[in-house]
Amino acid sequence: MSVDLAWQKLPVDLDPNRLPKHVAAIMDGNGRWAKNKGKPRIVGHQKGVDALKDLLRCCKDWGIPALTAYAFSTENWGRPLEEVQFLMTLFERVLRRELQEMMAENVKIRFVGNLTDLPKSLRQEIERSMQDTENNTGTQFTIATNYGGRQEIVQACRAIASKVERGYVEVEKIDESLFEEHLYTKGITHPDLLIRTSGEMRISNFLLWQIAYAEIYVTPTLWPDFDRAEFYKALTTYQQRERRFGKVKSTNNK
Ligand code: FPP
Repeated sequence: MSVDLAWQKLPVDLDPNRLPKHVAAIMDGNGRWAKNKGKPRIVGHQKGVDALKDLLRCCKDWGIPALTAYAFSTENWGRPLEEVQFLMTLFERVLRRELQEMMAENVKIRFVGNLTDLPKSLRQEIERSMQDTENNTGTQFTIATNYGGRQEIVQACRAIASKVERGYVEVEKIDESLFEEHLYTKGITHPDLLIRTSGEMRISNFLLWQIAYAEIYVTPTLWPDFDRAEFYKALTTYQQRERRFGKVKSTNNK
């Protein structure tokens, strides 16, 4: 994968002070991309990895500190067995292959989701990648794997209920910040921008709590074709939006 030098620096018409601090991506359309090219779906997933890698590097190049990608949902187990197995092997292989480069690029890797149900060899690679990159200070790269937003919220409720039951937490002390402490994404800022490729107008159980005030950008582009030019379009749209967080726009004539 090579990057057009023209896209290596932040495009001049983007305001570096108004970039999202955290971008989340629902990487949809790998299968359709492959089908359109008369190739098996797995080729789409392989190309999807290239697109993700370049987006991660682009975040570094353009000064966006955090990226979260939805790699595998709790619902994705319902896909044909060969595809699920292919994806698990792909994740493992990519982690093994890319870890050194992630270290060199100072990326901090974090996996979120119900990791206990993943194959053991993948879990080991996940553990290793998180441990090795723990003290890195560059891009925070979060990969949602066997992740479901509802499941995340339910497991947080259970963990808090258990603490209440054992007398460690008083019911009155349960507030948003305590709740957040029990989410998989503990310590990671909320996404400012959520990108979904392939045109579907859905959230698909992704970061339900965390995207409460994220700007949503949907593009018909299929994930393997989501390159820097597409990211530029997403960021341009983002910078044209007015984020009010439920308040009214502040004006001089109050
Ligand atoms: C959605 O396309 C894509 C996925 C379910 C898999 C995405 C995974 C990657 C790009 C690899 C990430 C790897 C690592 C290690 C982080 P789809 O299959 O739903 O496409 P379709 O809607 O066209 O069928």
